[in-house]
Amino acid sequence: MSNGVLEYIIFWAKALEVNLMKLSTLSSTAILISLASTAAFSQAQPSTNIPHLQKQGTATQLIVDGKPFLVLGAELNNSSASSMEYMRPLWSKIAATNLNTVLATVSWELMEPEEGRFDFSLVDGVIQDARRYNLRLILLWFGSWKNGKSTYQPLWVKANQQRFPLIQDEKGRGLPTLTTLSDTNRDADARAFAALMKHIREVDAAEHTVIMMQVENEVGVLGVSRDHSPVANQAFAGPVPKEFMDYLRTHKDTLIPELHKRWEAAGFKTSGSWEEVFGGGMETDELFMAWNYARYVGYVAAAGKAEYPLPMFVNTWLRQGKFKPNEDMPGGYPSGGPLPQVMDAWRAGGPAIDILAPDVHVPNYDDRCAWYMQSGNPLFIPESRGDSKGVAWAFSTAGKYDGIGYSPFGIDRLANPEGELAKGYQTLSQVAPLILERQGLGKVAAVLVDEATPRSKVRLGDYMIEARFARRSQDPNAPVAAPVDQVAGLFIQLGPDDYVIVGRSMRVDFESATDATQSVGLGTVEEGEYVDGRWVPGRRLNGDETPEWKALWFPGDRYTIQRIKLYRYR
Ligand code: DGJ
Repeated sequence: MSNGVLEYIIFWAKALEVNLMKLSTLSSTAILISLASTAAFSQAQPSTNIPHLQKQGTATQLIVDGKPFLVLGAELNNSSASSMEYMRPLWSKIAATNLNTVLATVSWELMEPEEGRFDFSLVDGVIQDARRYNLRLILLWFGSWKNGKSTYQPLWVKANQQRFPLIQDEKGRGLPTLTTLSDTNRDADARAFAALMKHIREVDAAEHTVIMMQVENEVGVLGVSRDHSPVANQAFAGPVPKEFMDYLRTHKDTLIPELHKRWEAAGFKTSGSWEEVFGGGMETDELFMAWNYARYVGYVAAAGKAEYPLPMFVNTWLRQGKFKPNEDMPGGYPSGGPLPQVMDAWRAGGPAIDILAPDVHVPNYDDRCAWYMQSGNPLFIPESRGDSKGVAWAFSTAGKYDGIGYSPFGIDRLANPEGELAKGYQTLSQVAPLILERQGLGKVAAVLVDEATPRSKVRLGDYMIEARFARRSQDPNAPVAAPVDQVAGLFIQLGPDDYVIVGRSMRVDFESATDATQSVGLGTVEEGEYVDGRWVPGRRLNGDETPEWKALWFPGDRYTIQRIKLYRYR
């Protein structure tokens, strides 16, 4: 039985008030079968319409209210959602920035100030305000960990380290980080998160304002590559858990290459301690931590899903590489977070987590996306930049990587109806339905171009389409605009010769992909807009507005849309 089906069974059991103890002890096959078929039906055609993930071709899409949804999001600063007063003037600016989703924090300390007493007033406030502005929410559960530290747990947890133990360094000193190797820590977090999900079901199961959950924030230990508390030392010296070994064996051919290599170098052993199976060194410390974080966070996610099974993801503080060399080793960045080299430990240890998501604050965007597309992981970018480069990345996420969505960090600062993000999201929202219809089916593509890579070509249908970066547009009618660093060309195939091309600061050229003896000409070119999904043409472009009478120009001040028909001649 798949995890998804199991989650639905538990959810339905709760919804139908079936006693879970009875369910397990009665070994009531009949109930299980009937719940399983309800679950299967729910997945095929979710009658309750809970936001969920669904495959389309090779893509995984987020389905909201029965339709694929592209998250045009942005994340609030960490403390913003702790005050409705602070938020009040922001909402209208956020909505005018053309977002459809806000990523907002729910902090454990504010939600459970005393053990077992929950206060959902902030959660209710943010849901109500989001609805007022027709915005969806992705809630970020700041529970046991935030950026590798534990600062969001309530004081009754913080102050009681006997009961809620911390990670220790090599000298036995406690770090300000809850250990993953404590069932008490895990159960307290899971109880609170389950209470949150139950509450969201009660207040939002009909409206679906909340569409996804982030569980914890950028987990992993900072300052050491692994936990050295006595219990962690014992686990590290003990055998690699059977569940992980089984996963490695059954997924041997599809493991992330870094892990496959380490396991191979140590002799592909099928049992033994962590160092026996994977060799020594910080990388093995990191893998051990990843397994333990995944077990803990996966448990918290599963407890939440048992109440209300929204899609759930974890976000990643990436290795900053050459940009911050001193942070380039486990412990310099949070050791054990869902980085690409330890993705398999996360998949095996936390199957209730649907998406491993990278926070991309530094180049190279294409590399980061490729890492997080491995082993069928759907792409969602919960934190990134919101300038013109960020907008290019948003286009690329949707069009090149079949992504679920994009979200720059710090909408408090970025909210600006005239800003880059507002302009980019305005255009992207016009073509989002076209993109979503085609994701995973080979009918939409995108490329990034800049000074370093000024040309990029992709095949779409029977044509090769090439974007050429033009720092200053040579379109005679284009307004003079400040040059941008990087832009995206987005290509959508409507029919054999019909395309929608979205671009900025670029020229776009075409070739036949099927017959090199044929030249490609522009049949018709219209610029225009999609209004409520309907194409509204503006100028018909020809002559000087189509360079060499065979290519397209896109001005530099904003993304624009051209709808074209191509033809061939020889
Ligand atoms: C990454 C964290 O995940 C966010 O919560 C935020 O603190 C940003 N860094 C700040 O840039």
